[in-house]
Amino acid sequence: MRGDSRRITKLIEDIAAISETPQPSGVTRLAYTPLEREAHAVFAGWMTDLGLSVRTDPVGNTIAERRGTAGGRAIGTGSHLDSVPCGGRFDGIAGVVAAAEVARLVVEQDLEHDHPLRFVVFAGEEGARFGQACIGSKAAGGMWTPKALAGVRDSDGVSLADAMRALDFDPTEVELATWNRDEWAGFLELHVEQGAVLEAHGTSIGVVDLISGSTRFELTVTGRASHTGSTPMSLRADALCAAAELVLLCEEIATDPRHRGTRCTVGKLDVRPGSITTIPGQVSLAVDVRDVDSSRQRDTANEVVSRGRDICLRRDVELTARLLSDASPVVLPVWLRDISSTVCKELDVTYRVMYSGASHDSQMVGHVIPAGMIFVPSRAGLSHVPQEWSSSVDIALGVEVLTRSLIALDAQLTRLGR
Ligand code: GLV
Ligand code: MN
Ligand code: MN
Repeated sequence: MRGDSRRITKLIEDIAAISETPQPSGVTRLAYTPLEREAHAVFAGWMTDLGLSVRTDPVGNTIAERRGTAGGRAIGTGSHLDSVPCGGRFDGIAGVVAAAEVARLVVEQDLEHDHPLRFVVFAGEEGARFGQACIGSKAAGGMWTPKALAGVRDSDGVSLADAMRALDFDPTEVELATWNRDEWAGFLELHVEQGAVLEAHGTSIGVVDLISGSTRFELTVTGRASHTGSTPMSLRADALCAAAELVLLCEEIATDPRHRGTRCTVGKLDVRPGSITTIPGQVSLAVDVRDVDSSRQRDTANEVVSRGRDICLRRDVELTARLLSDASPVVLPVWLRDISSTVCKELDVTYRVMYSGASHDSQMVGHVIPAGMIFVPSRAGLSHVPQEWSSSVDIALGVEVLTRSLIALDAQLTRLGR
């Protein structure tokens, strides 16, 4: 049941070719764009070629199904096909290609399973465009309303609802995309680790126990723009100088011993008017706080804002804060983890139980059905950059662990009469 590493390389390349940016600059296939839909269509083609039925739900999640011998609730696997700007070829894609390989294995080997197997590509997992991660899987998790979709905008001011409409999805139907326990029995996602733990320990598989939450917000500092030559240093209200202190404040709070494990990052600065001869009058900072501890996550966000206010008061500039998104960390069910750990032991494959620092679709579907994750190694731990890389041989082994885990889950559900 090992995946075919050469086929995996080919499928990953097929998807990588669908990009706004040329290869050396990395892959750009943003959430809710025609390119993302093109990638979903390629996946749908793989599935129909295998004789599976395929549908697209109201928010653009693509779901293929192989019927089970007994029917009942479905077992799912999959991930996402969108990327960050100038990102890698593996984040999300490895999990979708792994799902496609599982589908190929079960069809070609005519493997029997009682429950339906579903192969899923979630829409819009990356928060890069809308500041909101996991848009499609949040819909599956029943976490959106049409009003909320209208309230989220990208940096061009396009609302998520309008971006959906432009692709022929109807945002008023978002609630119809919700998964429920009567229809779904569980979900298992393969993903590249995006960190360096597996590689550093020479371990083949990560079995995920916790997924970090994230709180994202925009800080806007408003000072006074004026001439860089004629304004004395003592008479300035330089928004960028205050913003620089805010960036360092984020680092200071996250590295404080009280916050072991918190990550706090300013990944985007918008400096206005952005001229070498004008003192910056306004700066917006995008802040991303991640933690597996929900109180520490929210306390960090609150502390950045409250201590940031003191900095801005001292510098005589104004500070406003706008929440972009807030997702809690989740604990994945131990019984589902045990299935994959047992498979690794049986195959004599090295594994370790570990947390995920990144967000994932499983985090969102985990709100409504049991979800699990397995990681495969990432070279040098790099992710969200063009250098992101995982070996197809490692992914092929991950496919075997995934396939056997899904089959074991199917058998366990049957045994328990579920
Ligand atoms: C998703 O890749 C994230 O930003 O964690
Ligand atoms: Mn991902
Ligand atoms: Mn990502």
